[in-house]
Amino acid sequence: MSSKHRAIGVEDFIVPWVKKVKLYNTNHIMYAWNHPSVDRLMSNENFHPPSEHVVNSVVEAARKGNLYPQDGMSLREKLAKLDNLKAEQVFIANGSLEVIDVITRIFISPGDEAIIPFPTYPMYELRVTLAGGTVQIISPKKDLTYDVNKVLEHINRKTRLLFLVNPNNPIGNVLPENDLIRVLDTGIPTVVDEAYYELEDEPRSMSFLLRLYPNLIIVRTMSKAWGIAGFRIGYSLASDRITDYLNRMRITCSIGTVNMAAAISALDTIDYFHKQNTETKELRKELGEELDKIGGIHVFPSSGNFMLIDLGALGINAEEVVSYLLQNNIQVRLMNRPELGPGFFRVTIGNREQNKRFLHKFREFLSEK
Ligand SMILES: Cc1ncc(COP(=O)(O)O)c(C=O)c1O
Repeated sequence: MSSKHRAIGVEDFIVPWVKKVKLYNTNHIMYAWNHPSVDRLMSNENFHPPSEHVVNSVVEAARKGNLYPQDGMSLREKLAKLDNLKAEQVFIANGSLEVIDVITRIFISPGDEAIIPFPTYPMYELRVTLAGGTVQIISPKKDLTYDVNKVLEHINRKTRLLFLVNPNNPIGNVLPENDLIRVLDTGIPTVVDEAYYELEDEPRSMSFLLRLYPNLIIVRTMSKAWGIAGFRIGYSLASDRITDYLNRMRITCSIGTVNMAAAISALDTIDYFHKQNTETKELRKELGEELDKIGGIHVFPSSGNFMLIDLGALGINAEEVVSYLLQNNIQVRLMNRPELGPGFFRVTIGNREQNKRFLHKFREFLSEK
């Protein structure tokens, strides 16, 4: 029978959980690429460009572009040293987004459930849905921190995975250690995404708990404090056993030579890393102090390279400020999530000039209201 006579079309063969998701919208990133003069305060990028050492290593690596990349063991060894772990406990992939996807696929099969306390980074829900799983969204406490009692109450026979973020995006708050321990004690595989942990005033990773909890998986990225988002390097820290399963699931040779060179040379220039993070933290403090002087708004204290602002008490819809700023060449991020009110937006910490321009235009917007 020729295909044109078939009663069903090719799309009918697509698995239902892929059909039901919408393509993740990256228009905000494309807008910034298409308008190079815009202040990119929307995606929690590091405003520091890569060091000269990183750039030179990348150029050198590009000369070997005809060859298949190495297996990543030298990068895994360097990352392991940061936390006094073994290379066998480090899994690397193309950005922590891919790490999150691979973790999801080793635990979730159609019909399984993952628990995700909100508000948080939207990608966990997407990856779980794409693996055929469903998510249990846990609403937060009044102050938008995780409601751990509620998380524990929702664990059931179908629960296969739990996602926590520390510090959380978009709130910026740090997860109390006791809360994490209560969750880990359930034995459910638990991801703690530490995308921003290096930016805490006193960085404190939960990786020390790996010795006690084989169900803990720490996820990290080199896109934020390490400042190489464009090179897409993320990693996880877990037991050797879990890491072995992650490696089985990973696409072979998925990290290119150039990306690996960027990561290794960034790790080799630790002074540059410390210098840029000290500056980001200073600028966060300065921006926070300036924002705190503005009456009527609520600014969430943040341990990341961003700040969440709520204009709800002024009765202002954040869409207005986001578009006002964009008209003035400043791109921030609307946080139009159901668990947050209409007044929420997030601004990434930029360099001093960018932060000044943002403050100036934000105050101007408020004074015109
Ligand atoms: C909490 C969190 N996890 C993961 C990521 C993704 O990072 P990567 O660039 O490593 O994919 C982000 C990016 O904004 C994030 O905020």
